[in-house]
Amino acid sequence: MSADATPAGAPVVRIGDADDPRLEEYARLTDLALRRRKEPAEGLYIAESHKVIRRALAAGHRPRSLLMAPRWLEESADLVEAAAAHSAPVLVAEEAVLRELTGFHLHRGALASMHRPALPTLEQVTAGARRVAIFDGIVDHTNLGAGFRSAAALGVDAVLVTPTSADPLYRRSVRVSMGTVLQVPWTRIDDWPGEVDRLQAQGFTMAALALSADAITLDELAAQEHPRLALIFGSEGHGLPQATLDRVDAVVRIPMGAGVDSLNVAASAAVAFWATR
Ligand SMILES: C[S@@+](CC[C@H](N)C(=O)[O-])C[C@H]1O[C@@H](n2cnc3c(N)ncnc32)[C@H](O)[C@@H]1O
Repeated sequence: MSADATPAGAPVVRIGDADDPRLEEYARLTDLALRRRKEPAEGLYIAESHKVIRRALAAGHRPRSLLMAPRWLEESADLVEAAAAHSAPVLVAEEAVLRELTGFHLHRGALASMHRPALPTLEQVTAGARRVAIFDGIVDHTNLGAGFRSAAALGVDAVLVTPTSADPLYRRSVRVSMGTVLQVPWTRIDDWPGEVDRLQAQGFTMAALALSADAITLDELAAQEHPRLALIFGSEGHGLPQATLDRVDAVVRIPMGAGVDSLNVAASAAVAFWATR
């Protein structure tokens, strides 16, 4: 191990051993059960790739450290500069050490351990929003990330995740979302479906996407005028619980063909966002 400095002034710490305690925040990145406990408890999340790290910095998130192989240092000059501005070390280790530490081949350039930002309130997130997406009990990080990506791309103003939904800041969600979880205003709501009333009081029409036979079609919903619209999507396995369906203003179905019973939840979100844009 040795320390030197880049022209930007960030301390570059060269590390030769995967057991070095300064790498602790990056250890066992493929161990989902461990990372799910560790990251929120320690107030951090991992941003992976230059693009995602840049998006995190643009969102005002603060780095705790950067980690990369030596060959990426030059291309990462702006990230190194940002690390210096936050007195965050730039940890540099050979590819083999990185692979041993993280559990995968780091071919996206760099990793950053970021301070997890405080979540905004429901009111802060929905202020001025015309369309909101609510992901209820989405357990798969890929689906959640894909849902955020569609929300960002198709003009959804804010996202709410319910207590049983996966972590939008888990590495895989952030990556699949292409960093848009760092861009779209979102928060986690504690009381669900209790918050349906509060959103209705704010003028939102609450529309649950579900396969119910008595649902209106998405075309019918899209043809109506809704100054404020919240679209609710259910879990991969069981969909939305009856308790939620009982409280909403509309249950909405995307008609299926060819004997297919449902869409993947992220696909259904993209279709619904597009139809109601
Ligand atoms: C894979 S589906 C869940 C299927 C579940 N067996 C059910 O009966 O709802 C996951 C979520 O995607 C949305 N979804 C998928 N296909 C849909 C469709 N054709 N119409 C409305 N919502 C749909 C719903 O929000 C649903 O809760």
